[in-house]
Amino acid sequence: GVMFKKPVIVFEGIEGSGKSFHISNISKYLKSKDIDYIRIREPGGSFNSEKIRKLILNNKSNFKKDTDLLLYLAARSENIDLLKKFYKKKIILIDRFVDSTIAYQHYGMGVDLNILQKINNYLLKSFKVDFTFLNIVSEKNLKIRLNKRKKLNRYDKFKMNFYHKVQRGFLKIAKNKKNYRIINSNKSIKVNQIEIIKKIEKLIKWT
Ligand code: TMP
Repeated sequence: GVMFKKPVIVFEGIEGSGKSFHISNISKYLKSKDIDYIRIREPGGSFNSEKIRKLILNNKSNFKKDTDLLLYLAARSENIDLLKKFYKKKIILIDRFVDSTIAYQHYGMGVDLNILQKINNYLLKSFKVDFTFLNIVSEKNLKIRLNKRKKLNRYDKFKMNFYHKVQRGFLKIAKNKKNYRIINSNKSIKVNQIEIIKKIEKLIKWT
């Protein structure tokens, strides 16, 4: 059979930035080509991690920011076995990962970056992300897209300024890094879709 590389590819961005649409589209693309991959989301992705997700995002929850951090990391901890099992054996698509923790808990909520990175490094060890698509969105479109959602979870209800800080945080993380591509979701979705597929083809191409 044809050989493919098996990178770890992450989709990041705030609410309404279109990352879930694009990750679904890539999944369809890979399926149509009969290319093996796994797809997970964070928080969630595995049985136990989905339990923690429910707890964090439940509208009745009101945890302290440090508790949120520890719960997101706990959800990640429950995914490690799965991630390590398929690392470099299958393409891994992840809907949010470490950068979401840095952007939301550190840049958004002001949690200490050091402790966050320490625990992440402890959990991930040699597991590395190869490429990240960072989806950005304007405040106007963010509002429109949040308004369209039937159900809002606890993290869909922050003030606009919070999402601003988080998106700026994401952009800081991506700045001057070769393995990040910024996708402007205010542009045509079709154009972005084509750009992302092209990049994916390059990332998995065996040379
Ligand atoms: P989702 O609905 O896009 O899956 O995201 C769930 C929420 O969790 C989203 O508002 C971002 C937030 N989040 C964090 O705050 N920290 C994290 O580490 C992760 C993975 C997600």
